[in-house]
Amino acid sequence: MKIDIIGAGALGLLLAGKLISAGSEVRLWCRSEQQCRELASSGLTVSYEDGGEAISVKGDRFSAEPVSKYTQRQLADPGEVTLLTVKQTVLHHELPEILRPLQDRNLTMICFQNGCGHIELLQELLPESSLWVAVTTEAAKRKTLTEVIHAGKGEICIGKSSHSLHHNESNAQDWDRGSVISFAEALAAAGFNASLSKEVDTIIYRKLLINAVINPLTAIWRVPNGGLLASPERVQIMKELYTEAVQTYDACGITYEKHVWEAILEVCRATSGNISSMLADVLASRETEIRWINGSIVNMGLQHGAQVPLHRWICGLVEGMTVRER
Ligand code: PAF
Repeated sequence: MKIDIIGAGALGLLLAGKLISAGSEVRLWCRSEQQCRELASSGLTVSYEDGGEAISVKGDRFSAEPVSKYTQRQLADPGEVTLLTVKQTVLHHELPEILRPLQDRNLTMICFQNGCGHIELLQELLPESSLWVAVTTEAAKRKTLTEVIHAGKGEICIGKSSHSLHHNESNAQDWDRGSVISFAEALAAAGFNASLSKEVDTIIYRKLLINAVINPLTAIWRVPNGGLLASPERVQIMKELYTEAVQTYDACGITYEKHVWEAILEVCRATSGNISSMLADVLASRETEIRWINGSIVNMGLQHGAQVPLHRWICGLVEGMTVRER
């Protein structure tokens, strides 16, 4: 099947490399011309930290073009599914202009972002398209513009978020369910542990809790994930952020899995040496996703009368870390 991937960061390259080597037709849409050139000349490599055999795909087995050309190509020669593997920052700042001309099209988009808020934006931009959400625990680190390290095997769960359903639409009426099933099969053929779920909202909100505790604190303290467990004082602050977030969920009527607190501690232990995506952004002086992670908890609290002082503070602190002096 023909798969478009917008975003050639760590996750985009990982998905592309493994899907291409399993026989899928992939078009990769990159933000820089330099990356397109390097991918065309050097191909794409997925390597493993544990020394497993790397996957290398030559540049003539896929196309890599600047994302600015996505719209034109999509109009002339549509792919079956488009994966969005850019960060929230890029999605909100750069993609609206690129996607708007496709507002009459019936695209199938699968969104891999952390946090909340992107589905609402995409619904406005692409009212005729079908928006799916993918939540993944795959861990990947981009080493160069053409090489990604698969740092930890996880799962990919795909579903329709209640935010992406139109008023009278139900899961059973999705016109493109067949394409998404074929995509999940392509993922499985490429060695991913992928499934379709009707409970994707629960998984989204679980991941939001994990990100809302781990990401900002690792960014503020500049520690890898395991560093959060270094002292009881740090764990106490994590617990306070967590408690405020679940109280907000309760006020909003959001259901979440029990034992998420234990899961957060386990993620810190299992990924103890990893740099969180938010700390990586701060270290590279890039805008972070704080607005769509802790900021979405603040918005939920404000809308449903829950007190969210800690999440408001943390948003202000992390935003201040990457503000450039004018
Ligand atoms: O955003 C991230 O970096 C990850 O989702 C996680 C596991 C919360 C921290 O590394």
